Amino acid sequence: MWQLASDTIGEADLGALADFLRTNPKLTQGDVVRQFEQAWSEWLGVKHSVMVSSGTTANFALVATAAARVARPRPRVGASTVTWSTNISPSILMGHQVTLFDIDRRTLGIDADHAVAAMDAGEIDILFLTHLLGFDGLSDRMLEAAERNRVILLEDCCESHGARHGGARVGTYGLGSTFSFYFGHHMSTIEGGMVSTNDADLADDVRLMRAHGLARESTRFAYWQRLHPDIDDRFLFVSAGLNFRSTELNALLGLRQLEGLDDRIAHRNANMRAFLDHLPAGLWTDFQTEGMSNFALPLIADNAAVCATVKRVLNHLDIESRPVVAGNLLHQPFVKQYGVNSRPEATPVADHVHRHGFYVGNGHHVTIEMIDRAVAYLARELAGEDRERAM
Ligand SMILES: Cc1ncc(COP(=O)(O)O)c(C=O)c1O
Repeated sequence: MWQLASDTIGEADLGALADFLRTNPKLTQGDVVRQFEQAWSEWLGVKHSVMVSSGTTANFALVATAAARVARPRPRVGASTVTWSTNISPSILMGHQVTLFDIDRRTLGIDADHAVAAMDAGEIDILFLTHLLGFDGLSDRMLEAAERNRVILLEDCCESHGARHGGARVGTYGLGSTFSFYFGHHMSTIEGGMVSTNDADLADDVRLMRAHGLARESTRFAYWQRLHPDIDDRFLFVSAGLNFRSTELNALLGLRQLEGLDDRIAHRNANMRAFLDHLPAGLWTDFQTEGMSNFALPLIADNAAVCATVKRVLNHLDIESRPVVAGNLLHQPFVKQYGVNSRPEATPVADHVHRHGFYVGNGHHVTIEMIDRAVAYLARELAGEDRERAM
């Protein structure tokens, strides 16, 4: 069976973890977390990274700390119609005003025309974009509009470790960015996430949010001590924090996984190129692949008939598939209950992906031979159906 994902954590990683445990180390967040944060910042090309317990808590911490910089009581957050639920659920939980944008069929990310128009019209305070399936979801036009209108740009890179926009990695352009190290992603720490930024104050705010709001977690500890001399500084709470900490075990895995990350990205991208080269007519191939770090192989059919054939072929070949991330979030009950705006009101591209789109897994468990065989079979089936229709 061709599975959606396979574990990047191998025997050697588990052996290293067992060796580490035999040294009777400190297990809660400490030096190893700090080492991984440092190594991650160097690899990504940012000044600060803060490890947290998941991509979801990274999103929560990032959007919460960014929203605290917006003067408006209910900050207006723009995001994509097609992304993971927890890109927007932190904003929903915090009572933000959420606008979801239709997507660009070439990047499956936010359509730049709609985002630029909303920013120029002064409709959003924060743009939390997602680099979906490892595509570069940024455009220079969006970057310029965010800067021109002082919109805070945040990047959800949970599916795009190592993707590039222009000369730099995605996750280095916005005020802050987030990564997931969950099973099936480009690298895994079992569960885990990261917030990365070049802004020292934002990193500090995320550190406070990660650990109960305790002043001693802050690089500005001395400042907080001076400000509140009346309170025991070991238990001085200076912001409303939660607990998003990681353990040393996850960070040790992170350090080891980071070593093989670039090779895994190259393997994923080679697979994606082979896939797109041979995909038959009737399926979308006009993706913007420049700068990608592929997460999964998209099968987006032109119409319902092709979609039905794709489903049948995937079943026949025992290839696991799933909707494109969470489909169009506007159709999901939690979004409908909350009530969000969409821009434009109709979201035809996201709806098409919702109805006619799937993805199949990519990773070290997938080879070009597997892709060639499956795609050739699919092409034969689609050609056969065309012939039948023509008769
Ligand atoms: C775009 C996106 N954002 C956020 C997340 C959440 O990450 P996690 O599963 O680590 O909570 C995911 C998960 O896959 C994701 O795909």
